[in-house]
Amino acid sequence: MTAEARSNLRGDYSHAAPDYTVEQDWGAYSEAEHALFRRLYERQAKLVPRYACPEWIDAIARLDAGRGIPDFAEVNRSLSRATGWRIVAVPGLIPDEPFFTHLASKRFPVTVWLRKPEEFDYIVEPDVFHDFFGHVPLLYDRVYADHLAEYGKGGLKAMRLDAIRMLARLYWYTIEFGLMKTPAGVRAYGAGLLSSGGELAYCVEDPKPRRRPFELERMLRTDYRIDRYQDCYFVIDSFGQLMRETAPDFTPIYARVRGMAVLDPAAP
Ligand code: PHE
Ligand code: CO
Repeated sequence: MTAEARSNLRGDYSHAAPDYTVEQDWGAYSEAEHALFRRLYERQAKLVPRYACPEWIDAIARLDAGRGIPDFAEVNRSLSRATGWRIVAVPGLIPDEPFFTHLASKRFPVTVWLRKPEEFDYIVEPDVFHDFFGHVPLLYDRVYADHLAEYGKGGLKAMRLDAIRMLARLYWYTIEFGLMKTPAGVRAYGAGLLSSGGELAYCVEDPKPRRRPFELERMLRTDYRIDRYQDCYFVIDSFGQLMRETAPDFTPIYARVRGMAVLDPAAP
């Protein structure tokens, strides 16, 4: 992230440590912010029983996050026991290197600020609701959590190989917008879906988007749009599959994919 990109972000980076973490300062949230978080939570809580993957549903019950913006220190007591992960507070999006370093060290960066009431349905940058509700429950799942730490190491490696664009597409189509096949049908595990009021039902039920089986090279090649519902989703069988299929050394895969055309997500 360049200084210019950072200056367009709304978080306050002036007090951040070199690894971009800040104090959460939980006591500073207003009652109105806790109430807004609860309203967001309640809207999603009605949808997730039908659309979220079972691993996410199992985990959210352990979090008791419906009361308001969670206190990260409290979450860390149970999370570190479950999988060795912790969450750390950050001012918002952070540059690639500290981001990957946090993941590789089993620390998930969570934005401290909450969206404004007028952004109830849509927000451009990730806020504490997206980061917490979408990402944190799955950190309680052993296989998912291990995979995400491997992704972090893979990110540092991709930086050395100048392959961040390709790896970012994989993140987008898995961690943010991934679907999973379950006995009950297709379900969401991507955080961008789980925290979305509209796309969560759309991704599972709407006939329009394409739902492709997991295919590593295609994911590394497929562009994405950040400003509307996705045209294309990739469906995994399980987090075990995600772990297995991303385990091989990507160096030769990057070399091959680099020479191929980027794919349009809306292409048939
Ligand atoms: N196996 C990948 C590599 O060698 C790293 C990776 C692991 C990437 C898990 C994504 C997810 O680069
Ligand atoms: Co996210």
